[in-house]
Amino acid sequence: MARILVNGIATIDHVLDVAEYPEEDTESRALASVSTPGGNAANIARILAQAGHRADLAAVIASDADGESLLRMLEGFAVGITPCARQAGRTPVSHVLRSRRSGSRTIVHYRDLPELTATEFREIELAGYDWFHFEGRNPSELPGLLAAARAAAVDQPVSLELEKPRAGLDNAIPLADVLMFSRDWARTRTEEPEAFIDWAAQRHPEQVQTLTWGRRGAWVAYRGGIFHCPPSAGLSIRDSLGAGDSFNAGLIHALISGQPPEQALGAAVRLAERKLSQQGLDGLFA
Ligand code: FRU
Repeated sequence: MARILVNGIATIDHVLDVAEYPEEDTESRALASVSTPGGNAANIARILAQAGHRADLAAVIASDADGESLLRMLEGFAVGITPCARQAGRTPVSHVLRSRRSGSRTIVHYRDLPELTATEFREIELAGYDWFHFEGRNPSELPGLLAAARAAAVDQPVSLELEKPRAGLDNAIPLADVLMFSRDWARTRTEEPEAFIDWAAQRHPEQVQTLTWGRRGAWVAYRGGIFHCPPSAGLSIRDSLGAGDSFNAGLIHALISGQPPEQALGAAVRLAERKLSQQGLDGLFA
């Protein structure tokens, strides 16, 4: 069991299950509807808590009624909420259509709530954490957030998710030990995952770096070695909402449990596949 601090966003996801993705300007009826906490950081904290860690979330939570219920739901998932900052404003929402036919999810996210600043992050009691994870979102604050973790850490790892390409986020890369790249991020350089991971391995040789690429699997680069983990054959995809978060949480869980990067990659892929094959984020380790 480790103490892990996860920084990023928390949302309410309003999810509608539909038989298939609807056409624009039509009306149809959903098969099911659920509202649940979302946001990469909240999802990762929730999964790490399931794995038995003490996972704390450092996010801005709105002072509205939805913010209150978001906090209660997160507590219900055993996520620590003490580091969260309350601010006047509205809880960010995602409206998600989840297609039963393809298992894909289509997300439309809306937020006008500010994100946690490096100044607010420095007010958190940072001593005692074994791992710091950051959702790379906010270019102006990100280097300050990671620098604060670095200043508090002795040899505790700092990980950084680079999912949505935004100018300036890469300034924080030198401050992280573990870099989790998405396909969207890599595509800003190349359409070939192997070419991206080769480039990344040469550019940041000391960091553990992962790249996820949907049906082509995932890669890890570490100290000159590059390993690929293909997806399992015949996987049937039921629900891809939070699959990337499951990969990242699985990676952190495996690395903090002492697994070497190649093995941790396999564990992360298997957890993401488990997630893809079931609906929702509960019971991923059962
Ligand atoms: C899934 C997710 C959802 C959220 C959206 C935010 O990875 O975190 O839970 O609504 O992405 O971008």
